[in-house]
Amino acid sequence: MLSYDVIIVGAGGAGMMAALNASEDKSLKVACLSKIFPTRSHTGAAQGGINAAMGYRDENDSPESHFRDTVKGSDFLADQDAVEFFTSNMPKVISELDYFGVPFSRDENGNIAQRPFGGASSPRTCYSADKTGHVILHALYEQCLKNGVKFHNDWHLLSISVNEGKFEGIVTMDIRSGEIHSIQAKSVVIATGGFGRVYWSRTTNAINMTGDGTAACFEAGIPLKDPEFVQFHPTGLASTGVLLSEACRGEGGYLINKDGERFMARYAPGKMELGPRDLVSRAIETEIKEGRGFGEGMGSYVLMDLRHLGEKKIMERLPQVRELAMEFEGVDLIKEPVPIRPSCHYTMGGIHVSDYRTCSTPIEGIHAAGECCSVSIHGANRLGGNSVADVVLFGKYAGIGARESAKKRGFSSIEKLMAEATEWTEKFKTIREKTNGINMFKIRDELAETMWNHVGIFRTEAEMEVAYEKVSRLIEDYEFATIGDSSERYNMAFLNYVEIGNILKLAKAIALGALNRKESRGSHARADYPERDDNNFLKHTLIYKDGDQYRLEYSPVKITKYQPEERKY
Ligand code: FUM
Repeated sequence: MLSYDVIIVGAGGAGMMAALNASEDKSLKVACLSKIFPTRSHTGAAQGGINAAMGYRDENDSPESHFRDTVKGSDFLADQDAVEFFTSNMPKVISELDYFGVPFSRDENGNIAQRPFGGASSPRTCYSADKTGHVILHALYEQCLKNGVKFHNDWHLLSISVNEGKFEGIVTMDIRSGEIHSIQAKSVVIATGGFGRVYWSRTTNAINMTGDGTAACFEAGIPLKDPEFVQFHPTGLASTGVLLSEACRGEGGYLINKDGERFMARYAPGKMELGPRDLVSRAIETEIKEGRGFGEGMGSYVLMDLRHLGEKKIMERLPQVRELAMEFEGVDLIKEPVPIRPSCHYTMGGIHVSDYRTCSTPIEGIHAAGECCSVSIHGANRLGGNSVADVVLFGKYAGIGARESAKKRGFSSIEKLMAEATEWTEKFKTIREKTNGINMFKIRDELAETMWNHVGIFRTEAEMEVAYEKVSRLIEDYEFATIGDSSERYNMAFLNYVEIGNILKLAKAIALGALNRKESRGSHARADYPERDDNNFLKHTLIYKDGDQYRLEYSPVKITKYQPEERKY
């Protein structure tokens, strides 16, 4: 059996930052496991940049201002002690990344270039053209190799073993051989990214963003915090939902309706296209609903116009965006406006992190960082550019936290770990041999349609009840799913089956949290409760899984400096 002091699951920005920091102690054996090659992780899709108050473009910017913007952006649901820790440490982390060799774009003075992003009161988003996440991944991978981190690439997490409250290790599959492995560890960092693939057919997320680590923690007894808060990015490409970076609006792009109007003047006169994402997404959907969009039904859209930026600026700052629009929408945005519509982008909720300084969860030895978890610094709505910032900063502190807990706790027994590995081996065999049943992709597609239509950008009690019932029924159907592939090696169908099981569990939690939050806050917009209700809902949702039953609790929000007030842009 494999055994490590610290095991990291996920090799995106958070996972590799954690691996790098855990491996700073050379006496520890540190490994990182990833279901794809590390530099292909979803952090690479973070195009537009990473927020830190460096003050290069606006000398009046400060971590305090970043703190205030983030709390306001979160619709006051973020924990303010964690946000202050985040914004005050970000400038240092940017310098670390610079030192690691991240090729940031530069301004005329040779400083890291910064651009405006939504909901920010200063241009504080550091960037590398529109490939920021991609270049950060490459630099971190090199640093991890330098530090001797062991990588298990093409290994898929199946479960986390916790016996009587004690973390024992993880069960995984080596995708290439089909072998199931149990890995004993003293501590683990879960960094598997978000679960936007709950909304399968309309998301900016990579195909593998199925919340594997989040679902495994949920199953192991760790609650999910605030799962109802799902971010819809305003500018997904109309036909596919593929992301067109917020940098387009940061660089000066316009949003236009079918009357040729810059309609954001109606919704955020002060910020226009640079309002926060929740507000801009609702504005676009309202334009469409009220007949000022183009197209019909799922084919509806508005336009983003970048032509006035000129070819030189577009090629220098937004080359990938241009390529994506040409590839996926057949539009050259130097010459024409591009059709866009909101697309599921980010899950603010996730694994409940109970201490932001170590990213620990309620189970000793289990830490989490990045989109898979909720610290919570994003509350009800994340600001653009705060995601890559979150992964690198909390990835770092999760790595340090896991390193220290490994030194403190030693190995636990492996009794349950071994039993779980045997169960997975049997399950893999049984499901491969099964020939009659329900096609698992039908379940996945019904799930996505249900979630998009009933727990989407605008929500109501009646619709969410339909969704909750439907998702519960799909979970029952899943017991009868077939995968249609009997091979042992590289059985991607089996892994799709595991992933579909994960998104089903998480979708039910999203629907439950949303149904019970009878107010509108950030990305959770209810037509039947249109106002924010601080008297009753200034609190975090916590959902526990006891066997098949979901249990709902709430916990207080940490307010330090900024009292909730009406959010105006
Ligand atoms: O729009 C973007 O470039 C995405 C950035 C983010 O989600 O932070």
